[in-house]
Amino acid sequence: MSEVKAMSLKEVKKVSIIGSGLMGAQIAEIVARVGGYPVVMWDMDEELLAKGFKAIGSSLKRFFVDKGKMSQEEAEQVMNRIKGTTEIAEAANADFIVEAILENMNIKQKMFRQLDEAAPANACLASNTSNLNITDLGRATSRPDKVIGMHFFNPVAVMRLVEVVRGTLSSDETTQLTCDLTRKLGKEPIVCRDSSYGFLANRAYRAMRNEALQMVWERVATPQDIDKALKLGYNLPMGPLELTDMTGGWGIAVASEADAVRELGPEKGYVHPLIRMMVRAGYTGGRDKKGIYAFWDEILSKW
Ligand code: NAI
Repeated sequence: MSEVKAMSLKEVKKVSIIGSGLMGAQIAEIVARVGGYPVVMWDMDEELLAKGFKAIGSSLKRFFVDKGKMSQEEAEQVMNRIKGTTEIAEAANADFIVEAILENMNIKQKMFRQLDEAAPANACLASNTSNLNITDLGRATSRPDKVIGMHFFNPVAVMRLVEVVRGTLSSDETTQLTCDLTRKLGKEPIVCRDSSYGFLANRAYRAMRNEALQMVWERVATPQDIDKALKLGYNLPMGPLELTDMTGGWGIAVASEADAVRELGPEKGYVHPLIRMMVRAGYTGGRDKKGIYAFWDEILSKW
């Protein structure tokens, strides 16, 4: 465990984001736009970085410039605050680092090891992981007290929640700093422990989605009507089934099943047979892929 304490918010002068994919680019954008920090955004190569910058530019235009909430000049100032790099040492030279790379423990641990070696001793290393254990990530470093989860929700510009996920070894100072930074970014932090697989929101959501799936399985109603009931009955903007169709969560559920069984036990961890059936047939959800609505219309309703 490191002897050096995590810093306070006013000592944070520079923030780095590791990964310029869907989440990394959005996090870089909010840190530069709302936090006003100089940001370094890392990715594996220039092509990936260019994609990340393009996504930031389009999002600033669509949500702010086109809606008259920001001038073109202000949008350019935000863009200019973000510098891209493919060098880990350059990205590690920051006070607060948010990692948003592939959801894979081995890959993330390797990244945390490299960041730990190059970052200032009092810098915090946060992960945007959706499910992975923060203590396991911290163990890859010499500073597990300064490793924490900072779980943003998609789309970052709109969703107010950030789960601040404490590993068993995360310190009070690190938790406080992450909550303070979250508030500075205009978001609401909710602190939870990493002993909960799926943390707070995704774990509870998973249970609701499983019940919705079971009702499709029992032919209680169509997926469309089950979602509609939840939307109208609980004022949800989207039903759990259509949301998973949009995000590609059916494929992700199958890919992370072994972890879920280990962490939640077999009863809650195994994916519903309907998910397995859909994914086997190629109905994974996600961009340009069919999901449960199509699976019902094309296959299940005819069985
Ligand atoms: P993405 O696929 O859009 O981006 C992944 C990033 O990881 C890219 O920058 C890619 O270049 C990098 N990467 C891929 N392989 C790598 C490797 N071997 N070494 C280093 N970097 C590598 O993924 P997305 O959706 O942005 O997810 C990133 C993280 O955010 C994951 O941990 C995910 O669980 C989490 N998350 C995702 C949400 C979502 O709605 N997609 C919501 C909240 C958290």
